[in-house]
Amino acid sequence: MYVCICKQVKERDIIDAAERGAAHMREVRECTGLGSQCGKCARYAKSVFREAQLKAQQSAGLFTAA
Ligand code: FES
Repeated sequence: MYVCICKQVKERDIIDAAERGAAHMREVRECTGLGSQCGKCARYAKSVFREAQLKAQQSAGLFTAA
């Protein structure tokens, strides 16, 4: 599913970036151009990134829920 229509960035692109170790949303924006036009995608893109980042950290054993 497209998250950013303007730059044609899909959810999968954001998840891949998180799985490859992107530490900040800024890195995803720099690589994809996400959010650089109308900006309407920014909030949802950030939530997708945070969720993917958390899952990546959990699967790597870097974070465990209490
Ligand atoms: S939808 Fe992402 S910049 Fe417009």
